[in-house]
Amino acid sequence: MIHHGTKSPVMIKEVKKLQKRNSSSKSRSRERDRRRRSRTRSRSRSPRDRRSWGGSGGRDRPSSSRNSRGQPGANLRKPRWDLNRLEPFKKDFYVPHNAVQNRDPRIVEQYRAEKEITLRGKNIPNPVFDFDEAGFPDYVLREIKRQGFSEPTSIQAQGWPIALSGRDMVGIASTGSGKTLSYILPAIVHINSQPKLSRKDGPIALVLAPTRELAQQIQQVADDFGHSSGIRNTCLYGGAPKGAQARDLDGGVEIVIATPGRLLDFLESGKTNLKRCTYLVLDEADRMLDMGFEPQIRKIIEQIRPDRQTLMWSATWPKEVKNLAEDFLKDYAQINVGSLQLSANHNILQIIDVCQDYEKENKLSTLLKEIMAESENKTIVFIETKRRVDEITRKMKRDGWPAVCIHGDKTQQERDWVLQDFRSGKAPILVATDVAARGLDVEDVKFVINFDYPSCSEDYVHRIGRTGRRQKTGTAYTFFTPNNANKANDLIQVLKEANQVINPKLLELADSKAGGYGRNRGGRNRWRSRGGGGGCGSGRNGKERSYSRSRSRSYSRERNGRSSRRSYSRSYSRSRSPISNRNEVIGKSYWSSER
Ligand SMILES: Nc1ncnc2c1ncn2[C@@H]1O[C@H](COP(=O)(O)OP(=O)(O)OP(=O)(O)O)[C@@H](O)[C@H]1O
Ligand SMILES: [Mg+2]
Repeated sequence: MIHHGTKSPVMIKEVKKLQKRNSSSKSRSRERDRRRRSRTRSRSRSPRDRRSWGGSGGRDRPSSSRNSRGQPGANLRKPRWDLNRLEPFKKDFYVPHNAVQNRDPRIVEQYRAEKEITLRGKNIPNPVFDFDEAGFPDYVLREIKRQGFSEPTSIQAQGWPIALSGRDMVGIASTGSGKTLSYILPAIVHINSQPKLSRKDGPIALVLAPTRELAQQIQQVADDFGHSSGIRNTCLYGGAPKGAQARDLDGGVEIVIATPGRLLDFLESGKTNLKRCTYLVLDEADRMLDMGFEPQIRKIIEQIRPDRQTLMWSATWPKEVKNLAEDFLKDYAQINVGSLQLSANHNILQIIDVCQDYEKENKLSTLLKEIMAESENKTIVFIETKRRVDEITRKMKRDGWPAVCIHGDKTQQERDWVLQDFRSGKAPILVATDVAARGLDVEDVKFVINFDYPSCSEDYVHRIGRTGRRQKTGTAYTFFTPNNANKANDLIQVLKEANQVINPKLLELADSKAGGYGRNRGGRNRWRSRGGGGGCGSGRNGKERSYSRSRSRSYSRERNGRSSRRSYSRSYSRSRSPISNRNEVIGKSYWSSER
């Protein structure tokens, strides 16, 4: 940041000259982004700010890797990469199946249109229609069959041919749509085509993930699909003893799945290196590139040869991340499945309860009674702070509910058994901070409750995405208070995109903000400076206001081409779901008691 006030006029002139020289508009906008982010970082010192980027437990912060300069990885030297002297390696393995190659372009287009696949980039190969067309080796196909999958999901169908071609790529598809296999299976093919590891070689594939639990989950997938071809892996994450992880590294592993802090620790201590790494994955890439992680990611990527293949995945891709991501991608292809705007999984019924803060605990209690009376009742309750997570869990237990909780202050051991009990169903209620918001794939989560609204609508999409996975249905309840009003517009966009019934009180809140101070001030955004216009979502236009006014007492919703007008409370007490005609909206008395 340049403080003109502290510089002489000559210096200011010099600075201006320098700025002029930097004439490329692209690099200028990147620079601006970077400055804005570092400004935001330097401001983000209050506990509240730390919470806003997942500090409430989402962030895996290494303590021992802090060094004299306070930043993990600060002692790492950036290698000077000379592409002429680097050992060449192969990254394009894709041999299109005859059926794929010769498919009528109209059929390909029709498939992409049906699946809502949008592509960006040159020479993108056709999608595959079934597993056999993807050209995976038999040992991978056998595992796919063993898992009982019948066909590739859309992101897999279009993502595999790109990933197998060695292209850099960004893959954006809804929560629970199978992104993990979209990058793990090509990683296996990539690894099996490289020369064997020698002693002291680091991994060939590196997968970075934002939380320990997610990293462990990815490791399970790497185990399931890699073991038949003898691919070894390890998972490096904080909070667990380093010994076992170091031993894995010593023995040689082809895949490392890591949270950034612990990986930097091992890189600094020379326990591993990324000289052999040619396949890099950022899972939950927008989270990995936000201001909590970006400096660490940059440090790690500097250690990897520039001609590597880089793949980024998420269910959300805010435009602020795009420029930054491009720093790490070359001639990349991008796939979006579904809407290009921020969107939630359409298999989730989203219910927004506009209420006051003091009402939340009673509401939660009523809702839990309804939910727990159901046979399928696995539920995640998201709460903003670690302290409140502990407090509410205590109260739930006191009321007799089988609740466990997880957040960043718990020991890793406790985090592990809590998640295990939740996965197995032994404890069907998990209370969590955003540490559980991304990527976690727990079978049969039927309900998500946002006790506190998250800091931005991307997080909302990820949180509710813990249900409705693998084409199953789920319900998300969200308590939304007037304090959250500056995020109402963004939420309304997400609801509208998914054809959800919109609570008129939410429209009223949005409306109340629209004309006043809150206009164009969405929630804080971790990719944008605080207080800057816009916040989490896009700017709003005048249309919004008339929409909310005209519907402040009733709403209209399109379903199956029919438009209906009825009251919000009645729509839920009559158990109508926008997902299907299923008669399963839980919380009927909850909704009637609300009014
Ligand atoms: N082709 C397939 N058919 C059926 N199920 C699949 C298929 N591929 C993956 N799955 C399953 O779908 C579930 C969700 O996959 P995954 O966790 O990869 O989703 P995701 O897209 O990464 O979601 P998120 O955005 O929440 O991280 C997993 O249980 C996985 O085993
Ligand atoms: Mg995932």
